[in-house]
Amino acid sequence: MTLACTVAGITFSNPILLASGTAGYGRELGGMMQLDRLGGLVTKAVSLAPRPGNRAPRVAEFRGGMLNSVGLANPGVDRVRRDELPWLAREIPALRVIVNVVGFTLTEYAEVIARLDDLDGHVAYELNLSCPNTSAGGVEFGADPDAIRAVVSSCRAATQRPIFVKMSPALPDIPALVEAARDAGADGASLVNTLPGMIYHGGKPRLGNGFGGISGPALLASGILAVSRVSARCPDFPLIGVGGVRTVADVQDYQRAGASLVAIGTAALADPRLPERIIDALPGHHHG
Ligand SMILES: Cc1cc2nc3c(=O)[nH]c(=O)nc-3n(C[C@H](O)[C@H](O)[C@H](O)COP(=O)(O)O)c2cc1C
Repeated sequence: MTLACTVAGITFSNPILLASGTAGYGRELGGMMQLDRLGGLVTKAVSLAPRPGNRAPRVAEFRGGMLNSVGLANPGVDRVRRDELPWLAREIPALRVIVNVVGFTLTEYAEVIARLDDLDGHVAYELNLSCPNTSAGGVEFGADPDAIRAVVSSCRAATQRPIFVKMSPALPDIPALVEAARDAGADGASLVNTLPGMIYHGGKPRLGNGFGGISGPALLASGILAVSRVSARCPDFPLIGVGGVRTVADVQDYQRAGASLVAIGTAALADPRLPERIIDALPGHHHG
């Protein structure tokens, strides 16, 4: 038995990924972990234009984990294309890279993909559908089945690579929304993104932006429920479980619920070698 698995037609050496936004574009982690040991890495968001991000402080810890409002800060697709993805492809050629894409209009996601798709070195896209649709009063794309269909089908036309949709745990009927994405041509779903939250310190919001997204231990149960519900509705649809993973048992719970791959975010920020230790401890791992 080995840990290798094939998901949406891509072969991974093991099921453990680094979650989007917590590993940058890989370069930031140089030396802190052996990236080629991972099943894969999901990049930080890539948008059409560069984004400076939200006002500091952007992260705060609390008992349940972490709250962040990074604001999808990123250098924009042209610089990611020029500087970031080529570095990963050159330095860590074996690493499976999934590019996380954000957009604020119905066409922006596909435009980002169109500007990256001729590059070698990444194996799939993950669409962060928890972005506000500015032409629809700021309702997030993932909350609206019509917007999901429009975004996914335009992305489908822009690439042959597999497309994963990433959904918020706060949506009322996640299986129906994932089904809309699947019917429009998505190849899998990543469940879940952060959960909206706010905390005070000394009478003032802890984050510069006021509110943010909860990640870490508090999210584990939400993520497992989302994976379990979606896999019941869409059996065999490839799922990436994400949210609150800290142990081998957490990974196995996501797998039990129906995830084929499992991504680690917050726990790896605090302890960059944790993903490697989890891989080493998974049943089926061969020490070599
Ligand atoms: C600092 C930070 C930045 C994040 N940035 C992104 C992002 O750019 N795109 C995205 O889809 N998810 C982003 N996420 C969400 C994570 O990928 C993941 O879904 C979430 O943190 C839950 O996993 P965890 O509990 O293991 O951290 C971010 C999370 C954190 C903590």
